[in-house]
Amino acid sequence: MWWNAAGVFMEVRPLTPQIGAVVVGVDLRAPTDGDVESLHEALIDHLVVFVPAQDLDDAAQQRFAARLGEVEQFPFGEGGPPEAPDVHAIVTGGDAPKYSNADVWHSDATFMAEPPAVSILRAVELPPLGGDTLWASAHAAYDSLSSMVARLVDDMTATHSVAKSSAHRSPVHERFPPVQHPVVRTHPETGRRALFVNRNFTVRLDGVTERENEVLLPMLCDRFAQPDIQVRWRWSPGDVAIWDNRSTQHYATFDYAVRREMRRILLRGDRPVREGTK
Ligand code: SIN
Repeated sequence: MWWNAAGVFMEVRPLTPQIGAVVVGVDLRAPTDGDVESLHEALIDHLVVFVPAQDLDDAAQQRFAARLGEVEQFPFGEGGPPEAPDVHAIVTGGDAPKYSNADVWHSDATFMAEPPAVSILRAVELPPLGGDTLWASAHAAYDSLSSMVARLVDDMTATHSVAKSSAHRSPVHERFPPVQHPVVRTHPETGRRALFVNRNFTVRLDGVTERENEVLLPMLCDRFAQPDIQVRWRWSPGDVAIWDNRSTQHYATFDYAVRREMRRILLRGDRPVREGTK
């Protein structure tokens, strides 16, 4: 905990030993350079950070995102108003068609050759109960493998495709042909290894038989379902979650019937690689 340049007491409170922290004492409408640096540090250390009760609109969310990294457009859905072109709505429940497979463990948009590094999500409208989101550490998922299995998958690649998670084809699909990523990626900032396959977009492990894939891929994806590597956030309107897609997966519970509206913006990532030894 520390006093930031604006004279506000800022604190990072870890939520579990593996993943997640709450950051208090920061106003995301006007963060100082020191605040942005501290948030980035907290994100790298805790993989997902929650900043409760913020008073952001779309434009302020876009401005804050641009301070934290290079903003990029989500290929699906509509962007926000002119002052927030990269903020997109995620609406579920009520009359909304089921938006996506967010209630499946995944990391955002791994069908892209350079998937987004970071996602920033803000709660706008929530059911009275339910609609929590969970995150799991991809480092801990990797560390939970036996050394024999880790050695087996360390140098493997897997094919990811947008077609796996959305049944109806859209012109956007043509822009994203299937792409190969390492099964184990090295975090570019920390050098830590992370398991990088998910149920939404990973079609198959490369270089193994169909039968081997049927057994191995679900076994790897299943590592994220361990409660002791997860954190769960119960949203209140205005809450903001910032997570690192290179070191986490998330799961949006769909246990409600009424409308839930979130707004998300993505920060550009780089091509996943597997290198280093940590
Ligand atoms: C997402 O999968 O990025 C959305 C998470 C949520 O709506 O809680």
